[in-house]
Amino acid sequence: MPDVHVSNHPLIQHKLTLLRDRETEPKKFRALVREMAILLAYEATQDLSVEPVSVQTPLAAAQGYDLRDPIGLVPILRAGLGMVEGIWEMMPSAEVWHIGLYRDERTLRPVEYYNKLPVAPTVHVCLILDPMLATGGSAVATVDILKRWGAQRIKFVGLIAAPEGIERLSSAHPDVPIHVAAVDECLNNIGYIVPGLGDAGDRQFGTG
Ligand code: PRP
Ligand code: URA
Repeated sequence: MPDVHVSNHPLIQHKLTLLRDRETEPKKFRALVREMAILLAYEATQDLSVEPVSVQTPLAAAQGYDLRDPIGLVPILRAGLGMVEGIWEMMPSAEVWHIGLYRDERTLRPVEYYNKLPVAPTVHVCLILDPMLATGGSAVATVDILKRWGAQRIKFVGLIAAPEGIERLSSAHPDVPIHVAAVDECLNNIGYIVPGLGDAGDRQFGTG
């Protein structure tokens, strides 16, 4: 059974509708990607470990909690970039490790072009950030890279998934939960999610 979490939060669903709209221009599109990423990461991090700490208020000592696990945000370039900043503001001590992949338009296979991960892993939990889980090739390749690096816990946080991408990612890596705002109908014959939102990179960066 795939470990898929589709948010039915009204704020997320409202923003997703605006994001899909072909009339939404890049500035608004980027703001929506940022806002949705924060809300989805909030849901995806509900099970992070904390350790009890004591904090002194102006009046007395109180019980508090510290996040225990170092977190890595792993945006897949380019489109995942728009999901980083907002989440990073919510967890400023997170490390950001970029992975550069693009889909070959003919084969739809991911081609790696940027990876500066150090030799040993520096984080315990990795959140892969990419708006679109289409064939799943880019997500599987990124999890492969992170597991080779030694990452112990990995989660995928995206905006829209195709059933094909969910099947591919959860078959290859059943231990990686998938958090998205929607699972759409299908892929078209050039690998785009339908109805989807078009090209997430082009719509953010105004390059379409
Ligand atoms: C898009 C998207 C994902 C990938 C998903 O990136 O951001 O990384 O496609 O497709 P897949 O599940 O079939 O691998 P794209 O290759 O368009 O590159 P870009 O983000 O640089 O525009
Ligand atoms: N990448 C995108 O940006 N959009 C899709 O629908 C599929 C892959």
